[in-house]
Amino acid sequence: MAAGHDPALSGRSSLKYGDALSLVDRYGKDASWIRHCKAVSVLAKRYAEIFSAGYDLDAGFVRTAALLHDIGRYKTHDPIMHGVEGYWLLTNLGYHREAFVCASHILCGLERDEAVRHGLPDQDFIPRTFEERLIPVIDSLVEFDRPTTLHARVASIQRRYQGNDAYLQRIEQAAEKVQRFMDHVNREFCISMEDVAAETLSAGPGIV
Ligand SMILES: [Fe+2]
Repeated sequence: MAAGHDPALSGRSSLKYGDALSLVDRYGKDASWIRHCKAVSVLAKRYAEIFSAGYDLDAGFVRTAALLHDIGRYKTHDPIMHGVEGYWLLTNLGYHREAFVCASHILCGLERDEAVRHGLPDQDFIPRTFEERLIPVIDSLVEFDRPTTLHARVASIQRRYQGNDAYLQRIEQAAEKVQRFMDHVNREFCISMEDVAAETLSAGPGIV
């Protein structure tokens, strides 16, 4: 399908941030994972400001999709299936661009065979745009609602999923993708994404 005809790729985000916030609050109720979503979203807004200087990016979409990336946690905390649940929830609500991010933030992307095995449609869920590639990178720099580094985040995941060798191998591959992305934009914008995360979230996630 040509990109221009794909509702998941074309156009600016139609979902307003306030509506996304209502969705997260409705499905998350008082669950603690909402705080992670809000912190990722706060950081997404900051990165969008920085990267808008070099890219024609959809800052509203970055912020909204970041807020919704883990909404599937209302059903499960499985490291893969929460992305699948989020995908179907948002797809059924008609939010296709944000739904894609729920699926594609998992391990920085799922290939077709793996997607099908987990109950997703028969297609790749690999981040395609700068915005889609940015969200799993931001996710990897936020531990719960606090800033972290990629190295520390990977170490934390390795502790949490000790013994799940197949998953941990995928995490290593995903971390390499995140590192490549960070190296590229750090050079291009003369920043450290990790330092920006620390500065932005050092006083807590703040008001979203
Ligand atoms: Fe997630």
